[in-house]
Amino acid sequence: MLARQAESACAAPKLGRTVPVPELIAPDPRVYRSFLAAMAEFEAEGQGGPDDDSNTGQAIREYTGRWADPAEFARYLRELEDQAQDESPRPDGRVPQTTLWWVSGNEYLGRISIRHWLTASLREIGGHIGYDIRPSARQRGYATAMLAAALPVARSLGIDRALLTCDEDNVFSRKVIEANGGVLEYKNGDKVRYWVPTA
Ligand SMILES: CC(C)(COP(=O)(O)OP(=O)(O)OC[C@H]1O[C@@H](n2cnc3c(N)ncnc32)[C@H](O)[C@@H]1OP(=O)(O)O)[C@@H](O)C(=O)NCCC(=O)NCCS
Repeated sequence: MLARQAESACAAPKLGRTVPVPELIAPDPRVYRSFLAAMAEFEAEGQGGPDDDSNTGQAIREYTGRWADPAEFARYLRELEDQAQDESPRPDGRVPQTTLWWVSGNEYLGRISIRHWLTASLREIGGHIGYDIRPSARQRGYATAMLAAALPVARSLGIDRALLTCDEDNVFSRKVIEANGGVLEYKNGDKVRYWVPTA
């Protein structure tokens, strides 16, 4: 008995799983499985409905049921790549947009989209940057870190001050923006508008 107690007291502590440091990457098929799981989480949360004009919502509407085919997923990645090219054809009113993913190893955590310039409508609602973190990865500081990592990318696209808008009652997103230096400009209906320096 004593021997067993002594043995357990000397046992090495169990080592925790090492989590790769999250990073911002161009959309990459290496996170395919995790991306699909993340989209299912967003859908379960209610995203992708007819009124959801977020990039993730639009993608869910268009690709759910198709993503399960890796060739369709590859097509989606090509679409994202095309959207980032200033010279690519795009629907009226759309501006080029760079989408980046926040990942830890092969795990998809979230995405951030940077619109290369503002239209009159983006100037009021939408702004330069939109993002989301998958529901199971929230409240770990990822959105705050992801926006911080994306600001230099915005700067490299010629954006000195990024406009970010969000619902006035989206307290968590407002915290993310304010933690990154966002200065509240004014409220427009139920939206608040912040300017965030990219330097
Ligand atoms: C808003 C969103 C991106 C925040 O992502 P996140 O990774 O959870 O954010 P962070 O972990 O960086 O947290 C930012 C702040 O909000 C707080 N927060 C986030 N979720 C919270 C919750 N459910 N309850 C309480 N506080 C919360 C964090 O504690 C942190 O506050 P702090 O700076 O005082 O510590 C995420 O909730 C999301 O994707 N929501 C849906 C899409 C959306 O709203 N996108 C933004 C559109 S403008």
